[in-house]
Amino acid sequence: MATTVGSFIAGGIAACGAVTVTHGFETVKIRLQLQGELQSKKESVRLYKGVFHGVGVIVKNEGFKGLLRGLGCAYVYQMTLNGCRLSFYEPVRNTLTNAVYKDATVQSFGINLFSGAASGILGAAAGSPFFLIKTRLQSYSPFLPVGTQHHYKNALDGVRQIYGHEGLKGLYRGVVPAMIRTGFGSSVQLPTYFFAKRRLVKHLGMEEGMPLHIASSTASGFVVCCVMHPPDTVMSRMYNQTGNLYSSAFDCLYRTVKTEGILAVYKGYFAHLARILPHTILTLTLAEQTNKLMRRVEDRIYGSEASIEI
Ligand SMILES: *[C@@H]1O[C@H](CO)[C@@H](O)[C@H](O)[C@H]1NC(C)=O
Repeated sequence: MATTVGSFIAGGIAACGAVTVTHGFETVKIRLQLQGELQSKKESVRLYKGVFHGVGVIVKNEGFKGLLRGLGCAYVYQMTLNGCRLSFYEPVRNTLTNAVYKDATVQSFGINLFSGAASGILGAAAGSPFFLIKTRLQSYSPFLPVGTQHHYKNALDGVRQIYGHEGLKGLYRGVVPAMIRTGFGSSVQLPTYFFAKRRLVKHLGMEEGMPLHIASSTASGFVVCCVMHPPDTVMSRMYNQTGNLYSSAFDCLYRTVKTEGILAVYKGYFAHLARILPHTILTLTLAEQTNKLMRRVEDRIYGSEASIEI
């Protein structure tokens, strides 16, 4: 028996494992996205010149610690987001599929897409303040700063400071692009994952297990990164601002493209890919494992037929 609490814990643990490995790339991504904001190519100074250069520069100036700024906050965010996502996806999908087809086992691509987006958007809205604080912690650098520099000690301190200065509105700054970004990402993540999995089983005769999980998550990760990156860049910039640099997410998108060119929305793309690929592979692969584990633990607690026999 898999309960919602079980999937929540399983999803959260899986996501935190993935985050630990990929957090450094996320830090580089944020600095690349903020660098040269609203400056034409000629006038912008490139302190960070790409994924590997970025990693090198940060390690050299700030040590390994520099790459891991905001890791604790990233855990809190991931627990919120992925917990919501992995636990709401199946119930929403089941209910809708049942309502439309009178049979929950039917795989409808449209319903899968909608369920993925809906559960992701819920999680993103709930977790947005933590993503905001995480972004600010990661852009903070005593050596090569990009973006507004905030001194938060950790997630809780960030919540306290922002709430103290700007109230609830400050904490929910940038929540719209955060929801759009995650909606885009999660509307494709699980459906492409299951889609790739079915194809690989059907056409390549792959069997259930680790190699199949890895191959399917790689395919999914590529698609996720392409659709998610533009709103992700807008989100990072909305999170950076403390005043009213942009009036809305669309204002940010419009002015970014106008001053920096259309490719500006793909700034930090490779750093994002370097984070997303292992992140997706680890999250989805670990989720298969932790879900299995959770089910076993729950069977013990709630008593399944097997445990009653013993
Ligand atoms: C970050 O936000 C501030 C306003 O709060 C703005 O002045 C600055 O240009 C933004 N971007 C960067 C890269 O500093």
